[in-house]
Amino acid sequence: MAVVRIPEENRTLTDRGELTRYLASIGIDYERWEPAHAVAADAPAEKILAAYAPEIERLKASGGYVTADVIDVFPQTTGLDAMLNKFNREHWHDEDEVRFIIEGRGLFHVHPRQGPVIAIEVEAGDLLRVPRGTHHWFDLCPDRRIRAIRLFQDVSGWTPHYTGSGVDKGFEPACFGPAYIPRQTVAH
Ligand SMILES: [Fe+2]
Repeated sequence: MAVVRIPEENRTLTDRGELTRYLASIGIDYERWEPAHAVAADAPAEKILAAYAPEIERLKASGGYVTADVIDVFPQTTGLDAMLNKFNREHWHDEDEVRFIIEGRGLFHVHPRQGPVIAIEVEAGDLLRVPRGTHHWFDLCPDRRIRAIRLFQDVSGWTPHYTGSGVDKGFEPACFGPAYIPRQTVAH
């Protein structure tokens, strides 16, 4: 399950319905694809894409996506820092950023036109659609591991346009990790 944090309001959303509604209110689609298909997280990309073909086809039909691939990032990935530095500053794309997480974690920050900056920590089973034009940035969590299905309307549209606002510098790329325990649970 994803976790949404709103640092400016000192709020953390961990309830699936609540965070889904909050994300929808700023134009971001969030889904859980459950149960996960019977395919190993380290299976070849074509097996992953075949297993999730029904969901991928549904998204393609609704969002006009034409291609899907699997991105695989490890701590030892060649050129990882250069790759991460392309996306960890506030930017937008001319097409949607659509990710379904197979393994690992990641941290999206979204800066809506109206409302505070939010952090969305995603993990396996989470589908996120950040619409074209949305200001956002992305960091890996400390384990620097993520595997995700990506969908594209047009691969050429997925070049980052930087805002240069510097807003990203005001937010820590902090992940809670899988051991995260909601505060309200601790209080009880
Ligand atoms: Fe992006």
